Amino acid sequence: MQDLKQYIEDNKQRFLDELFELIRIPSISSKPEHKDDMYKCAEMWKKLIIAGGADKAEIMETEGNPVVYAEKILDPSFPTVLVYAHYDVQPAEPLELWQSPPFEPEVRDGKIFARGADDDKGQGFMHTKAFEYLVKTNQLKCNVKFLIEGEEEVGSPSLPKFCEENKELLKSDVIVVSDTGMIAPDVPTITTGLRGLCYWEVELTGPNRDLHSGLFGGAVANPINVLAKMITEMVDENGHITVPGFYDDVIEVSNEERAMMAKAPYSEEEYKKALDVEELAGEKGYTTNERTGIRPSFDICGIWGGYTGEGAKTVLPSKAYAKISSRLVPDQDHEKIAELFIKHFESIAPKSVKVNIRHLHGGQAYGCPIDLPAYKAAEKACEEVYGKRPVPVRSGGSIPIISDFERILGVKAVLMGFGLEADAIHSPNENYPLEQFYNGINTIPYFYKYFAEMGK
Ligand code: BES
Ligand code: MN
Ligand code: MN
Repeated sequence: MQDLKQYIEDNKQRFLDELFELIRIPSISSKPEHKDDMYKCAEMWKKLIIAGGADKAEIMETEGNPVVYAEKILDPSFPTVLVYAHYDVQPAEPLELWQSPPFEPEVRDGKIFARGADDDKGQGFMHTKAFEYLVKTNQLKCNVKFLIEGEEEVGSPSLPKFCEENKELLKSDVIVVSDTGMIAPDVPTITTGLRGLCYWEVELTGPNRDLHSGLFGGAVANPINVLAKMITEMVDENGHITVPGFYDDVIEVSNEERAMMAKAPYSEEEYKKALDVEELAGEKGYTTNERTGIRPSFDICGIWGGYTGEGAKTVLPSKAYAKISSRLVPDQDHEKIAELFIKHFESIAPKSVKVNIRHLHGGQAYGCPIDLPAYKAAEKACEEVYGKRPVPVRSGGSIPIISDFERILGVKAVLMGFGLEADAIHSPNENYPLEQFYNGINTIPYFYKYFAEMGK
């Protein structure tokens, strides 16, 4: 692939211009008012993939946001690669913390700043350009299918059913995804694990109306106080989640694998510095990378109730709310955990409050073995570009549809992502370094090359 570097060099600016067009569409899946933007964004993806050389691309309806499906079928004897990405993004709030508007991409200090710059427009887009290069230079030796969805950031509620109904269409030998990260710009990384998750919203109701906190305070249970206490009880002093049965199906990772994990380059000092924290916290007996990679976690994602406006208001609130999530590991089943939590949380509530729990979404964890042929192809591709063997890492993040793909389509996914922890995905000032962007486009074609060489 002699001319690959040159191809990227010659088309650098056009690549950026095209990506920026994609980013300018605020395709926020969690907000119904952006429904039109979802279609606009899907259209843009369709155009990009067709321009890249696909035989056909179409926008297909689901029960929720549409998906983009595209393909280039060259030869039935070639292996088939299914590229998965998501065109939806997280909300941009809090807007006042952005240095430049979230949907007006801007390059500063060698990084693209915008919502979706990394997750997953920047990363997904790299695949259209790698594909374009292979098609235009006649070097593609795989059949390629694209599946780009618009609901990943809300848990992909419609995609499992779409997969069930389109098994033949989506048939492939491997799924390739760039929606994860690397340890550092010079440390190529392949993600071998994703955590599962459960997400709930809890509502506690105390008295039937907000009360005067002087007239009633001390005599009536305050649902916010109660909620705070219940939440505190969920994790003990050793960082163990207290829900009975929670750990029953957790696979304990062997000492051998833990020793291998410990070899991955990591500096606790730098990690703390990057987050401005003096001390880290988590489950006793596990390192930071183990806490995110092989152990479950429990977090309050939001909490509200009572008076939060300007100044003081002496009120004993009627209601308290929290958004709660738990990250899971193999072989925990998200539906079973959802039930266990609900049962436990209800059981620890005092009679002074009523508890109402909504189970919002969930997904299973995923694991990719390092002896999978497609993993080997990704490994060789990274070696080619970075001159070193990539490090296998179990990520703390989740992409629930990846384990659904395995269950429904019977196909494994290789997670070859190029994001960095500093990219601030889901946060204000999300960014994606140009170096990661171009290195990604430089690496992906080699994946196809080596995967094709392995044959069907
Ligand atoms: N791309 C991320 C997940 C990710 C990021 C995995 C970095 C590994 C490394 C994805 O878009 C994401 O944000 N997933 C959500 C899933 C949820 C909304 C169901 C997550 O992990 O919170
Ligand atoms: Mn993503
Ligand atoms: Mn995301």
